[in-house]
Amino acid sequence: MDHNETVVVLDFGGQYKELIARRVREMHVHSQILPCTAPIEKIEEINPIGIIFTGGPNSVYDPASPKCDKRIFELGIPILGICYGMQFMAYALGGEVSSCPVSEYGQIETNLENSCALFRNLDQKEIALMSHTDYVSRLPEGFQPAAHTENCPIAAFEYPEKKFYGVQFHPEVQHTPKGKKIIKNFVYNVCGAEGLYNMDDYIEQQVKAIRKQVGDKKILLGLSGGVDSSVCAALISKAVPNQLICIYVDHGFMRKNESEEIDAVFSKMDLNFVHVDASERFLTKLAGVTDPEQKRKIIGAEFVNVFQDEAKKYGDYEFLAQGTIYPDVIESGANNSANIKSHHNVGGLPKNMSFIGLVEPLRNLFKDEVRQLGKKLGLPESLVNRQPFPGPGLAIRVIGEVTREKLDILRNADAIWRQEIEENKVKADQYFAVLTNVRSVGVMGDFRTYDYALALRAVTTSDFMTAEYTKVPHSVLEKAASRIANEVDGVSRVCYDITGKPPATVEWE
Ligand code: XMP
Repeated sequence: MDHNETVVVLDFGGQYKELIARRVREMHVHSQILPCTAPIEKIEEINPIGIIFTGGPNSVYDPASPKCDKRIFELGIPILGICYGMQFMAYALGGEVSSCPVSEYGQIETNLENSCALFRNLDQKEIALMSHTDYVSRLPEGFQPAAHTENCPIAAFEYPEKKFYGVQFHPEVQHTPKGKKIIKNFVYNVCGAEGLYNMDDYIEQQVKAIRKQVGDKKILLGLSGGVDSSVCAALISKAVPNQLICIYVDHGFMRKNESEEIDAVFSKMDLNFVHVDASERFLTKLAGVTDPEQKRKIIGAEFVNVFQDEAKKYGDYEFLAQGTIYPDVIESGANNSANIKSHHNVGGLPKNMSFIGLVEPLRNLFKDEVRQLGKKLGLPESLVNRQPFPGPGLAIRVIGEVTREKLDILRNADAIWRQEIEENKVKADQYFAVLTNVRSVGVMGDFRTYDYALALRAVTTSDFMTAEYTKVPHSVLEKAASRIANEVDGVSRVCYDITGKPPATVEWE
């Protein structure tokens, strides 16, 4: 990185610190999160172009509330305080913070002073997400109000000469529709950013950090073929070529040609790629099993066994690499890196394997950033834009007992469905086929058939917690159904699943 332009996000315990950092990154400015207790010398050393104080759950009058070194206000660096960050600034500089007579929660109409640098090119009234029970009731000297709402007389403030700003609302969240513009105004108009930061810089930083962390030691990674572990592998192999071993446990439940694609991508990289075909082991364990949860448990446990057996063959590894991304960090509730991620795919890596450390270069990134990074690292589109795929794979899309024959039928039908969706540019977030355990009578030529009924699924969702079925055009459905019935032996009937989540789930099992 040949430019030194950083915005420090000073963490006062808010839940949105990573989102703030991400907003700054997407404006092409490097951001770094520091705890509010970071020594002032550390901030001076970074010499940021601006500082953003995050929100936080506390009240500034609570003796235990987070505080930072007040010398921060003497550095001559622009500061934007958000929510608690604004209140802290007011309090620290001699203003007053009080309990709101009426707390504000949710999207609130906010009246902005458009002369304030933060609100340049915004409307005079904008919607902003509020969530507070305290508010700044008296401004410190030199400050002036810059926004108000019905119940909050000082919803933003400014001290333009010192470049100090505060907003009571959360500009970093989507519920504040013009929030990005406000942060951009701060970063560009107030801090004077040039905006030269990009994914290449991220790669460069991580490459340095990985080299520093692992030295000449070896690293082990469980590759699932999913976006996160693949990008993680590509990044590490760039940093420390040939110190990484990637074990790809192929349980035999991948989609058509997927394992071949993974082979093609990773066998070209500077890493030790091991593809373990364990399909026989998994199928044997699953023989006679029909209960969905039982299937998941067996697959998870067997995965650990295979992984461990393979890792043993390749000697000692000091580090374990994981494609943990920021949403995983939030999900697991963990704040530091001590926890081993319960692998999405496999329900837990071996507990008795000892490593001296974890390498998690994607920990601060959101999914779309990971995809961008993957593209930069030269991974193919098909891999970086891969739709979500459950760890147990097709085993939970073959209803009832899983057999090789059923998997082959499903694989072929699923490939046709995906091809039709993609070629017809149907927008869906996840789409796949399910082989039901129902057989149905059909007629082919002059013969009666008695083959499986297959279900097609396509859903539209933003978070997979809820989902709607995708309104796939009838012409696409018809073509897919006809191709599947004609081209795939073993399927005599095709249905389209039009249930939402809830009441159904995305997967059938
Ligand atoms: P459901 O079926 O719970 O699916 O509505 C929501 C999302 O999660 C994926 N999914 C899984 N992912 N292991 C995974 O890694 C699993 O066991 C699993 N089950 C469901 C599913 O594909 C959808 O994207």
